[in-house]
Amino acid sequence: MSKQTRPVSNEATGNSRDGFTSSFGVLAATLGSAVGLGNIWKFPYVTGANGGAGFLVVYLLATLLVGLPVMIAEISLGRRAKADAITTLRTLAPSGQKWWLVGLSGVIAAFLITSFYSEVAAWVFAYVFKAIRGDILSSDPAVTSAAFGALISDPWQSLLWQWGVLLLMGGILAFGVAKGIEAVTKKLMPLLFILLIVIGIRSLMLPGAAAGLAFLFTPDWSKLSASVVLVAMGLAFFKLSIGMGTMITYGSYFRDEQNIPATTFRVMTADLFVSMLAGIAIFPAVFSFGFQPAAGPSLLFITIPAVFASMPFGHLLMVLFFVLSAVAATGAMLSLLEVPVSVMVGRFAISRPVATAITVLLLALVGASCALSNNTLADTKLFGMTFFDLFDYLSSNILLPLGGICICLFVGWIWGKEQLSATLSNHGVLSNGKIVSMVYLLLKFITPVLIALVMLKGLGWL
Ligand code: PFF
Repeated sequence: MSKQTRPVSNEATGNSRDGFTSSFGVLAATLGSAVGLGNIWKFPYVTGANGGAGFLVVYLLATLLVGLPVMIAEISLGRRAKADAITTLRTLAPSGQKWWLVGLSGVIAAFLITSFYSEVAAWVFAYVFKAIRGDILSSDPAVTSAAFGALISDPWQSLLWQWGVLLLMGGILAFGVAKGIEAVTKKLMPLLFILLIVIGIRSLMLPGAAAGLAFLFTPDWSKLSASVVLVAMGLAFFKLSIGMGTMITYGSYFRDEQNIPATTFRVMTADLFVSMLAGIAIFPAVFSFGFQPAAGPSLLFITIPAVFASMPFGHLLMVLFFVLSAVAATGAMLSLLEVPVSVMVGRFAISRPVATAITVLLLALVGASCALSNNTLADTKLFGMTFFDLFDYLSSNILLPLGGICICLFVGWIWGKEQLSATLSNHGVLSNGKIVSMVYLLLKFITPVLIALVMLKGLGWL
């Protein structure tokens, strides 16, 4: 079934590098990075709580004005340099300028995000097993809440599930880009869509489903405010995995003939579609059984099990739902871990399996602080936050926006329009001059200003 791996050749150095081997592979891996736990617990609730269709319009604008240009910029840089995030910026920047620090900040952000993201993924994987065994099959939220509490307050369970997830990701990454990341995401992405559609249809068929759809889609323009606009932009950032070198790294694996703007647009729309489907799978069911919509862990691990336990065939659907969530988390985590792995392989010439082992080991150590944030280290706080919350805060509110601004400024003011145009047109093969001009204009003047506003607002300085 698996096709022969076609190494990507680097015209500059003549080296051959592991990379994605087909157009579908590029799409599956890149979409795999964008689609994640963000679609399942963050997007639907944030949409419903902030004005439904009105919020969607704002989110769409944020994605088009901020997400899309930065993603296109990152992928272009990566594909041009065909190198890891640090080397890419080092190679493309004029000598003596320290733009590679942006790549380094990306590696640090990848570590911080993976530390807490892997813990949430750990709960999801644990819930696949708990759902199969019927441990969480109760329609009483008090019971499902106690079950979740028992899991997260147990340090060993939290640690072992997290380490298990990291080992699984490391096992996939050790196979390489084509035979690991691409091969796995090509199978998982179609599975994700099938599961979402099955659960969505079931949810829509429930009596009272309309209230859930109304929560999601009824426009309530009165809820739109400056801070809602900023929430939408922050979400677009996290959703599209930008601002931290992930897309530079994946861009370096893109094929030379890949149409970067078209692929980016497809990833963005497919990611949006997954978020909508997740909302359609979740909220009609939540409302149909009279539960309150919630956000974050309590939606996923307390409300959802109770909702499924209330409906016919709920046991099977609950298993499918957590498998779906595990699938979504896997594609996102692979892209997060690939950032440091590619740096070790590219900069320090460490073999891929050893680089993967070092990354997993380091993450097991750093990530442990997040696994223990709900139990042993619950009272250990820095700036009033547990490690879990601190890592989330530092990455989302500081490192990602800062990385995004720097990428815009680098492409807009240093790399320049000619280079961007050469890469986006595949050296004149595609005639997409208008798109290039638009992306360039956004990157140079508009997007960095918008991101700066999000960041300052997030930090409470505005
Ligand atoms: N895009 C992922 C999600 O929405 O869950 C999260 C993510 C993955 C963020 C990879 C950053 C990243 F590099």
